[in-house]
Amino acid sequence: MGKLFRTNEMFHGANSLSELKSIKGNKAVIVIGKESAMASGSLKRVQTILDEINIKHEVFSGVEPDPSIETAMKGAEFMSKHNPDWIIGLGGCSSIDAAKTMWALYEHPELTLELMSKGEIPPLRNKARFVAIPTTSGTGTETTPLAVITDRVKGVKYPIPCYDFLPDLSIVDGELCTTLPTNVTADSGLDALTHSVEAYASNIDDNYADAFAKGSISLVFDNLENAYNNPKDVDIRQKMHDASFLGGYAFANSWLGIAHSLAHQVGGMFGVAHGRANAIVLPNVIRFNSKSSDRYPDLAKLIGKETAEDFASEIEVLRATVNVPASFKECNISEQEWNDKIKAMSQNAFNDVCTSFNPRVPTVEEMEKIFMACYNGTKVTF
Ligand SMILES: [Fe+2]
Repeated sequence: MGKLFRTNEMFHGANSLSELKSIKGNKAVIVIGKESAMASGSLKRVQTILDEINIKHEVFSGVEPDPSIETAMKGAEFMSKHNPDWIIGLGGCSSIDAAKTMWALYEHPELTLELMSKGEIPPLRNKARFVAIPTTSGTGTETTPLAVITDRVKGVKYPIPCYDFLPDLSIVDGELCTTLPTNVTADSGLDALTHSVEAYASNIDDNYADAFAKGSISLVFDNLENAYNNPKDVDIRQKMHDASFLGGYAFANSWLGIAHSLAHQVGGMFGVAHGRANAIVLPNVIRFNSKSSDRYPDLAKLIGKETAEDFASEIEVLRATVNVPASFKECNISEQEWNDKIKAMSQNAFNDVCTSFNPRVPTVEEMEKIFMACYNGTKVTF
């Protein structure tokens, strides 16, 4: 028997933001990043709808990329002061993941990052419910039981698994993405692709997740380059937004693998954008995993190819098409600094929760070798 994990209610399509009017309550805290929700007008649109349905609202702004536990604690204090019965995460994955973590700390102030990263979060919804409104297409966090928070002192990103993080309402409105910068379109789109590839190949077998993953992969290959070149095209933006949701749906049920374990470390240590780090490691992770997984030829067939190596190579072609670097060296990380941190990163990647779902069980030494190949832009052959 299986259970399908997903957001409780979801609206999608251009102008689906108007469905926010379906919520009932007294007060909302809207969690946003630094500028884009204000500059694009999406915050104003959310506030206007809340005014129309007589829900008071406050804004917690300034969530940084790769949000820290300190930011989450500040947000929780803000919530304790204003007592919302709705929390609205509006923006990219950073805003929504931070909002999820603030929500957990608002309901349970005694929680620590250590407890949360082990998934030890008591039930939520004693004080508030949660709305996710993504404005980037990649994370899928609007339908996942996961938030990622960074410990800046250790330079480690912690995935926080919690099934209560699945939102009460998700709004997947491609119109909100038309002001995304091209580099964010590329990085986040390749993050969505990584979610779907890892979910499909993971050691959890789930026909439903597989279908969502395949749908998402086809959408990314068919539309990412177009979204990159035609940012104002709402129809194409919606397709990438749908790809992101489908990828999130897939990994909410089949989880991820070591591409994410590796990418979390490079993001935490060197600040490489999450999707970009995934895009650099994914082809080599496919090569590594394909020695003990027969899943990748299925995915190659989706794009008219045959083998795992074909699929890995096509991802490299797509990556180049949207101007994402092919190696960490090209991300301007110094060799000295990389070598200083490689042992710790390899150990942390091995310990990452995503590693346990990978189809091939890696050693710490293999993690290090994959890291080195991805630093130098060479192919994994073992
Ligand atoms: Fe991701």
